Amino acid sequence: MSTCVDLTTANTLRLPCQAARYAAPASLSHLQDVLTDARDHHWPVTLLGGGSNVLLPPQLDGIAIRPAFCHWWLEADQEDVIAYVGAGVNWHALVMALAARGLWGVENLALIPGDCGAAPVQNIGAYGVELSDVLKAVQVVELATGAMRWLSVDECQFGYRDSLFKQTLAGRVVITQLALKLSETPKPVLGYGDLAARVPASPTPLEVAQAVCAIRQEKLPDPSVLANAGSFFKNPLVSDEQAQRLVQEYPGIPHFPQPNGQTKLAAGWLIDQCGLKGHREGAFGVHDRQALVLVHFGGGDRPGLLRFADAIAHAVFERFAVMLEPEPRVI
Ligand code: EPU
Repeated sequence: MSTCVDLTTANTLRLPCQAARYAAPASLSHLQDVLTDARDHHWPVTLLGGGSNVLLPPQLDGIAIRPAFCHWWLEADQEDVIAYVGAGVNWHALVMALAARGLWGVENLALIPGDCGAAPVQNIGAYGVELSDVLKAVQVVELATGAMRWLSVDECQFGYRDSLFKQTLAGRVVITQLALKLSETPKPVLGYGDLAARVPASPTPLEVAQAVCAIRQEKLPDPSVLANAGSFFKNPLVSDEQAQRLVQEYPGIPHFPQPNGQTKLAAGWLIDQCGLKGHREGAFGVHDRQALVLVHFGGGDRPGLLRFADAIAHAVFERFAVMLEPEPRVI
C-alpha cells in the first residue's frame, strides 16, 4: 500500500486527485489482506479500474484499490470457448488478442479504454454489442467479508449502461475475474452505422475489430492526447409519447424504440442541435467531432467539469425537455 498518491494521470479525464492511500493487489490473498486492513481502520474503499469512466474528486480519503489481476486463459466448453480474464487486464488488448485468435464475440467492443474488471459495471457497449451479450459470469470478492463468489450473467441484472454493480452491489464487491463466452463459428454483428461497408465479405473477427477501431478513431478523441471519459452523458430514454412529439417537431431526430416501450434518443445529436459542438468554456469543452464527449484541456477540476456539464444538460432541457444524465461514475 502507498500513501499520498497522485491519481491525476490515473484517470483519463486527468482531473486532479490526491488519494490518501492506494493499493493494486495482484492476488486474491493480497486483495483480502488489503480489505481486512481497510475494515480494521474504517477506511472508505474506492474501487478503480483504468480510470476511463470516473469523475474523481480533488481529495480522496480512505483507500483507492485497483485490482491488478493480469492473467487470462482459454478453456474449451462444447461449442464455445470460455475466456477467463483477470480484472486488471486491459480491455482493448484482450479484444485484439481474442480477435487475432479467430474468436468471435467481443470484436465490436475494440478500442474501449479501461480494465476488464470495470467492463461489467456499466455494461460497456458499442456498435450493436454489449458486454452482457458475451458474458457468462463475473467473479467478485465481498468488501465486508473477503469472501469470493461467482455471479451468473442473469444475476448481474444488466441493462443499457447499467448493472447490479451500479445498483445494490455498488461499493460492496470488487470484481476480480470475468468469464466470457466466445465462439469459433462466425457471428458478425455488422448492423450498426456503416460497419458492414467497412469490412470485406465474410470478415474475420480481427477485420471487424480493426474497422471498429478506425470508426472510433475518426470520431472519438484519444484520451492520451486530449483528456476525456468517452461519452459523458447516457443516451436518454423517453416515453413513446414524448418521442412521437419530438419526431413531429424534428423529423431528423435519431430515435430507437426499445422493447420496454420507451424510446432511446441520441444525446450527441441533442447537444449538437443546441449548437454546442466544439463549444469551450475555460478548461472544458464539447468535443468538435462527437458532441457526446466532454474534453478537458487542462487546469480544471471536478467541480468545474460538473458545472460545465450542468450548463450543457440545461441547454438541452430548455430546447427538448429531455434530461441528460452523466454516464461516468461520480466518486
Ligand atoms: N450525432 C450527432 N452529433 C454528434 C454526435 C452524434 O448528430 O455530435 C448523431 C449521429 O449522427 C447518430 C446519433 O447521434 O445519428 C448516434 O451517434 P453515434 O452513432 O456516434 O453513437 P452515440 O449514441 O453518440 C453510443 C455510445 C458510444 C458508442 C457508440 C457506438 C452511449 C452513451 N454512447 O454513442 O459509447 O461507441 O454509441 O455504438 O451509449 C462510451 O460509452 O463512452 C461510448 C463512446
